Amino acid sequence: MFSSSVYTSWESVQRRKYEAMLQILGTDFFHSFFSQRVLNLGCGNGYLESFLRAHGISTATLVGIDTDAVALQNAGMAAVAGNGNALPFSNSSFDAIVAVDSLHLITGNDFERVLRKGGLVLASLFYNTENYREKQAFVEQRLSSFATLAAFTVAAQESEIVIVARK
Ligand SMILES: C[S@@+](CC[C@H](N)C(=O)[O-])C[C@H]1O[C@@H](n2cnc3c(N)ncnc32)[C@H](O)[C@@H]1O
Repeated sequence: MFSSSVYTSWESVQRRKYEAMLQILGTDFFHSFFSQRVLNLGCGNGYLESFLRAHGISTATLVGIDTDAVALQNAGMAAVAGNGNALPFSNSSFDAIVAVDSLHLITGNDFERVLRKGGLVLASLFYNTENYREKQAFVEQRLSSFATLAAFTVAAQESEIVIVARK
């Protein structure tokens, strides 16, 4: 069972993943991706937001959602306490969705509804050598109705499968 109180010690682990993604996808991609209306699905404590700000990448149009209201209190960003399986947003409200280590906890695909046609998803999930195939198949299955634009792994403190896909 995930809990944000345990998660407060994970900021450096997550930051290393974001750094690796920024390196591979490039600053231009990050600037253009986050300059749109973006939903951070299962945003947690706002580690990604503080990482983006530290790299001069705008978070002005980034909204986070998380079931954990305590985590959101510390997040220091525009965020909504809510359930990723029943998103409190109208259809096609977002141009892009980022979901770092949350798709395994948010089992429904309501995120597809709130993403506009042609919109992008940047999704990533942690894995280890034993469960790599299973995790890769899981993320691919969750994005099976999307066109994959990029798929790679990052070997940070915790390894991560990363997929960028278009609706
Ligand atoms: C492993 S953390 C990842 C947090 C953040 N994305 C990051 O990169 O640090 C997973 C987050 O998903 C949230 N979560 C779990 N189930 C959820 C749901 N149904 N809807 C929204 N958020 C959920 C948890 O509260 C937690 O903050």
